[in-house]
Amino acid sequence: MRDAAPTTIYLKDYTPFGYLVDSVHLTFNLAQHATRVTSRIAFRPNPDATDRTFFLHGEELTLIRAAIDGEVISPDISDKGLTAQVPDAPFIWEAEVEIDPGNNTALEGLYMSNGMYCTQCEAEGFRKITYYPDRPDVMSTFTVRINGDLPVLLSNGNPTGSGEGWAEWTDPWPKPAYLFALVAGELVAHPDKFTTRSGRDVELNLWVRPGDEGKCAFGMEALKQSMKWDEDVYSREYDLDVFNIVAVDDFNMGAMENKGLNIFNSSAVLASPETSTDTNFERIEAIIAHEYFHNWTGNRITCRDWFQLCLKEGLTVFRDAQFTSDMRSEPVKRIHDVIDLRARQFPEDNGPLSHPVRPESFQEINNFYTSTVYEKGAEVIGMLKRLVGDDAYAKALDLYFERHDGQACTIEDWLQVFEDTTGRDLSQFKRWYSQSGTPRVKVAEDWADGTYTLTLSQSTNPTPGQSEKLPQVIPVAVGLLGANGDEVRGTEVLELTEAEQSYSFTGLASKPVASILRGFSAPVILEHDHGNAERAFLLAQDTDPFNRWEAGRSLAQDTLLRMITEDAAPNADYLDGLLAVLRDGDLDPAYRALMLGLPTQSELAAALHESGTTPDPLAIWASVETLRQATAQHVQDLLPRLHSEAVIDAPYDPGAAQSGKRALGGAALALTSRLDGGAKAAEEYAKADNMTLQLTALSCLLRARKGEAELAAFYDQWRHDRLVMDKWFALQVSMAAPEATPQTAQSLTEHADFNWKNPNRFRALMGSLAMNHAGFHQTDGAAYQLLADWLIRLDPVNPQTTARMCSAFQTWKRYDADRQDLMRHQLTRISETPNLSRDTTEMVTRILGA
Ligand code: BES
Ligand code: ZN
Repeated sequence: MRDAAPTTIYLKDYTPFGYLVDSVHLTFNLAQHATRVTSRIAFRPNPDATDRTFFLHGEELTLIRAAIDGEVISPDISDKGLTAQVPDAPFIWEAEVEIDPGNNTALEGLYMSNGMYCTQCEAEGFRKITYYPDRPDVMSTFTVRINGDLPVLLSNGNPTGSGEGWAEWTDPWPKPAYLFALVAGELVAHPDKFTTRSGRDVELNLWVRPGDEGKCAFGMEALKQSMKWDEDVYSREYDLDVFNIVAVDDFNMGAMENKGLNIFNSSAVLASPETSTDTNFERIEAIIAHEYFHNWTGNRITCRDWFQLCLKEGLTVFRDAQFTSDMRSEPVKRIHDVIDLRARQFPEDNGPLSHPVRPESFQEINNFYTSTVYEKGAEVIGMLKRLVGDDAYAKALDLYFERHDGQACTIEDWLQVFEDTTGRDLSQFKRWYSQSGTPRVKVAEDWADGTYTLTLSQSTNPTPGQSEKLPQVIPVAVGLLGANGDEVRGTEVLELTEAEQSYSFTGLASKPVASILRGFSAPVILEHDHGNAERAFLLAQDTDPFNRWEAGRSLAQDTLLRMITEDAAPNADYLDGLLAVLRDGDLDPAYRALMLGLPTQSELAAALHESGTTPDPLAIWASVETLRQATAQHVQDLLPRLHSEAVIDAPYDPGAAQSGKRALGGAALALTSRLDGGAKAAEEYAKADNMTLQLTALSCLLRARKGEAELAAFYDQWRHDRLVMDKWFALQVSMAAPEATPQTAQSLTEHADFNWKNPNRFRALMGSLAMNHAGFHQTDGAAYQLLADWLIRLDPVNPQTTARMCSAFQTWKRYDADRQDLMRHQLTRISETPNLSRDTTEMVTRILGA
């Protein structure tokens, strides 16, 4: 139910809890609609706290009995929790509550998915399990007894007893309640083991529903690689006797790092060549690593409060990106991450939802698991590492683990270890955590008497709640190239700290071409009007693979924008440059495939909006179609060779080498389909023996407005497989022609397999609708209305997933007045829905800018 007045929580109001918790004992008597949870908690007054109010969070609980030191009490109960009078000395709290996991559709707390009990406690789900100080700075050891007639009963830590219908688990590592987990079900294990470098044997299990056994091997290998990598690179060893991972079908997020018992959305762990694409495999490898790495960055060292979320998430995303770079290709991973940052974080940072990496207030913390906290948070760590150097970074991390193990920390603690290690003053750098908005760096160049001078100036547009911006510390990696492509100056990191600064390079024989922001050394928008000739030169010559790709990307963007605004023809520099890159058989196929990518239509809309032109989604769509067609014609002669390079004469392997070849082959197939109307794609579909090829071919067919028979055959082949059916739903909406998109989506909502209460299925359909730029922005507003109808329907069932998907409307002010009216109307309609959740209320209010 919605609060009368939603309350805002502020970082500045932090105070420690009045009591410490020495131990927690929980007993669960599982029953679908009446699970009993008994808690026995040892509290004592916190000497560091002044406020001794004894308030325990608790929501949707029925209190059966409460006692202090064995004496039954009657606490004051509200819909948020309870308060009680307690001794000014150590005491034992006991409570018995009843909960209803069978009716928990929000998927927070203890809930059921396909007959299996599971939990999700981050951020504030534990309070739906029992009364507790549900805040991350309250840490304790947990002992859990589970009584239930299911064969597999799991919780955190090590198993310390079991028998018919019960199991006991003990977690010796103090942890906050958000890391608590329980799973009970008819599950089968995919077992393995790992010996840590100090010789501890760890039993590993991946638990899945019967039938999914064949989809476990890849995830298990990824887990062992992650364990090894964290030992080799960060000297972090695992610290329990067992590590369990469980796959569940109904899950709001990707996965969760509960201590010793990670719970995964089945889409984020289950994989087989027949049912998963190369992209799925890579994502699974990264998520397994991410959740595993949280064992140190998140669990052993946790967050003092939820404002510090980037302390664990930004750092762990940074660590999982390092892992992927090491396991696969560094430039390819970097390019993928920048594509993702621009597609998701930049719109957030430059729209109504803009907030700092460390927010200063929130109403619902679930709404702050954002691309800004995660991906910009990871970029901030990358910048810190670039500024202090690799050795100092390693020393600072060692100090962080040594100094803060077992603690709940803040960004101040994090920065302090870097200051103590390097002697550097990081107070200006800290603005990356407090200032929202994407900084823009403008480039001016000067050449005279053998000296090249680069002048960089920075500014950040106002963002909600922040009108004035101060200069940030921006590491700008720069290299200089001579006319023949030789590097006349190797990469150097310039530190831009003022509003404007100049840097001179002397003693040069001729005017160089600067390659600026190499490796995307800072999450900024670079404004560099260097002209297409220079871009084409960098596309051909840059020794920095990221900037070489970037040159192609900016050429593509420039030509698309001119096609839209000036009715220009596709730029020959772009097409010729692309052809040369594609011809270069020495370049990694994955890299060449990336070169074939274009800015997203949403990015083009943003660029138009920023330059003062109202974006027309259909014109944007048409320009992309025209450029694609022109590209296909221009590289036509090369396509057979690209296909043959991508032919793989070996058993399927999802690793970098093969998947790169398939990516290039797939991109070539997409271009071929524009020339042959889908003939080759139909052939490829018929012989596809893995999901990557099957889905690529099917998407080419659908884009050619063919493939009806294949789509039906795909359904018959895969209707039994939930994860593949998600792809079937998503693909149709993604590939629909703009004018057909709303109707396609609408019809699919009537399909018997549209199980809208499952977050994966809901996102497959509605998320794809929001991502189909020209389809979503059809002039009649049909897609806006369809999405809003379904958000209103989902909100009472699953507020968290509803609220996240409201961000589809975050760019509404970019568009023309008619579209703005249509979107505002839908946002208002959502906001006026009776009993709208706190989650969704906060999101629509912020998006509307009220
Ligand atoms: N701790 C989060 C999961 C989470 C997020 C729980 C929000 C509750 C609310 C987990 O570590 C995470 O970050 N998962 C990501 C994937 C990761 C690879 C970035 C996710 O679930 O999307
Ligand atoms: Zn995480």
